[in-house]
Amino acid sequence: MKIYTNSKQSAIKTKAIKDFSAHVSSSKAAFFQKYGMDLVMGPRKGPHMGDIDRAKRLFNLHCNGGVFNLGHRNIELIEVLKAGLDDYDIGNHHLMSKVRADLARKLAELMPGDIEYTVFGVSGGEAVDLAFKVARAYTKRTKIISARGGYHGHTGLALAAGDTRYRSPFGPSAPGFVQVPFDDTQAIEDATDRDTAAVILETIPATMGIAVPGEDYLQSVRRICDKKEILLILDEVQTGLGRTGKLWAFEHFQVIPDMVVIGKGLSGGLYPITATVMRKPLEAVFHQDPFIHVSTFGGAEIGCLVAQRVLEISAAPEFLAHVNQLASEFAEQLESLRKSHSKFFIAVRQLGLMMGLVLKDAQCGPILTRTAYDRDLLMIYANNDPRVCQLLPPLVMDPTRIDWVIQQLDGALAAARRLKTVQGVKTNIERYVKKIVPTS
Ligand SMILES: Cc1ncc(COP(=O)(O)O)c(C=O)c1O
Repeated sequence: MKIYTNSKQSAIKTKAIKDFSAHVSSSKAAFFQKYGMDLVMGPRKGPHMGDIDRAKRLFNLHCNGGVFNLGHRNIELIEVLKAGLDDYDIGNHHLMSKVRADLARKLAELMPGDIEYTVFGVSGGEAVDLAFKVARAYTKRTKIISARGGYHGHTGLALAAGDTRYRSPFGPSAPGFVQVPFDDTQAIEDATDRDTAAVILETIPATMGIAVPGEDYLQSVRRICDKKEILLILDEVQTGLGRTGKLWAFEHFQVIPDMVVIGKGLSGGLYPITATVMRKPLEAVFHQDPFIHVSTFGGAEIGCLVAQRVLEISAAPEFLAHVNQLASEFAEQLESLRKSHSKFFIAVRQLGLMMGLVLKDAQCGPILTRTAYDRDLLMIYANNDPRVCQLLPPLVMDPTRIDWVIQQLDGALAAARRLKTVQGVKTNIERYVKKIVPTS
């Protein structure tokens, strides 16, 4: 593989890239270098993350899909973690735990109705897998319906609920999964039968391009599920914890699911933890054998302490008011940006700070990601709809920084538009990269 090196690049960075390429992923290293985004993560704080060489500092408008909702290295959370280490470690996943019980009680308090039991995990995929296991065990049926273009993770069952392209190289997929178009009630109605255990949907599918559903969609799906005694699972891995201006995005749609999957931001960006929160009757699936599902690191005690504080912060009315204030300022400024780049930037999708910029065509998302990077913004196009660039700023960002973000975005859009007009976009990105990153 050819390693591009910038003349100012340190030996430490060059070695990190070489080692990454030799021992982690040669094709990722090649991709990022060719794409001109060869950042190796270094110092990070609040909304910023820098290159290991400190030559570049990005404003994080992606936040790993919500992992950094509360910013990088949130001081309050670091203090909780540090203090926790005086008394706690991972704990024992077989035994009872006070901090795990405290966190599960807090989740129950913050959920509607009788959604009051939690099984903790380490990744979103694991939490989704568990939701499917519970649905199948409870209903004694097998079929799971999900949305085409949605995303629930890359573990076994979650993978089976996702798009073909992520599973086709890996052999036979788990049976019993059906995908339907999102925001199409009739498609759900038609796909359900007497063997259907559950419907899973992201409240707003992020990887599909921040596709905000019509007002009645989720309620209609709820009605179908009620009529046919099918469980409704809402994946709030990206939309939960205040991202949309309410603690849970499903609150916008007046719908109460049977299970909620939470991940990413629950970690505070510091300690991996995810949760499958379910209605009380569903917990019965563990009555006969409470050890039928275990996760060694799921609900690690030290992670529970951090997650408890994350929930306290995210549920506070003043925190949600801050998110909504940011959201309305973004809405206003994005609309004027859209007007001035109307041939390239077609529409804004938004609920709270869950935002997507809809661009002219599928080449535009990757181009804008690159030109935004040049202007110190980290924003990433939606993998399942590259026309859309996701815009997911930290929920704690200072409102006075919005003007700067918009100004940089303005420049990035203008540059992307220019780049787009050149013939053969792929070749031209490579030329562009070579122009600014001298090869050795
Ligand atoms: C909506 C949604 N669900 C589930 C997952 C899977 O989470 P993880 O990568 O932690 O397994 C993701 C990850 O991006 C996600 O966006």
